[in-house]
Amino acid sequence: MSAADLVARAESVAREGAEAIAAAGSLDALADAERRYLGRSSPLHEVREAIKTVEPAARAEVGRALSAARARLEELAAGRRTELEARARAASLVAERLDLTVGGRDYRRGHLHPVTRIWRELEDVFVGLGYRVAEGPEVELDWYNFEALNFPPGHPARAMQDTLYVRLGEPEQVLLRTHTSPVQVRVMEAQRPPIYVVAPGRVFRRDTLDARHSPVFHQIEGLAVDEGITLGDLLGTIESFVHALFGRDVRARFLPSFFPFTEPSCEFAMTCVFCEGSGCAVCSRTGWVELGGAGMVDPNVFEAVGVDPERYTGFAFGFGIDRLVQLLYGVDHVKHLWDGDVRFLRQF
Ligand code: PHE
Repeated sequence: MSAADLVARAESVAREGAEAIAAAGSLDALADAERRYLGRSSPLHEVREAIKTVEPAARAEVGRALSAARARLEELAAGRRTELEARARAASLVAERLDLTVGGRDYRRGHLHPVTRIWRELEDVFVGLGYRVAEGPEVELDWYNFEALNFPPGHPARAMQDTLYVRLGEPEQVLLRTHTSPVQVRVMEAQRPPIYVVAPGRVFRRDTLDARHSPVFHQIEGLAVDEGITLGDLLGTIESFVHALFGRDVRARFLPSFFPFTEPSCEFAMTCVFCEGSGCAVCSRTGWVELGGAGMVDPNVFEAVGVDPERYTGFAFGFGIDRLVQLLYGVDHVKHLWDGDVRFLRQF
């Protein structure tokens, strides 16, 4: 073969090889094309072997054509390898993808119990009026629940509050608190006036369960002690929390009553929200629903805790939170509040 034939042969092998490299669809196919066009059995190898047969002066020209063909094929192969590797990496990212998505299950969202919600709303209303929230123990001493509140031993008013006693220490000295009023005593023992606190909490009485009574229920107590506090301040305070909770159309009213720890004492009621005062089954046709008790702190209570009754006056009030929830939502029996039946609770 002449030198020109060999140069033409090298060029045509390079074209063929370039096509094979471009057509290689995988790294394996590319390796195969490289072996065929650049390897030992490549037609280029035959061209190299044939150089010896051409006249020495023309050999360099064939040599140049050969190395140009090799260089071109090597460059194309390297470019194609980069492409194929990138494609393989992208494919494995898709194939090996792990689905870490959690979900597909529809959890029903819970919410606060209606009593907890109203409890917190009441705290907010009183905090807004400048009160602080106080707490006391549910298992209480006779001193705090009765004695310091001016219920002397054997006083008939103790019977008003059927007490559950706990067998600890002296007989009938440790009990489950029957009201939140013992927190008044604890606060006044711990701090000097001016005092503005509310004390919400659980209370216990030996009551039989009926539509409006439960042996365990919740009250919120209010206590204000300062110089110059009057009955007018008490009435205004109760009226403003009733307005805050039920709106301006609802009115509060006060009837004389008796509690050993307040003098004078009253019961307070608000317009029945169901009939707006015209009389219905909920309010026993009176147009009013009773909320709780209140009064001016009895001087004997001040003396029991060491507050000077000549300098300070104060008022206290207490009412049932559960009762309020029943009124707000029209719950006809307290047991619904404590049965824990989600079909009922879901409605709030
Ligand atoms: N502690 C009283 C009760 O449970 C309510 C009350 C509180 C009355 C504060 C007067 C002052 O019945």
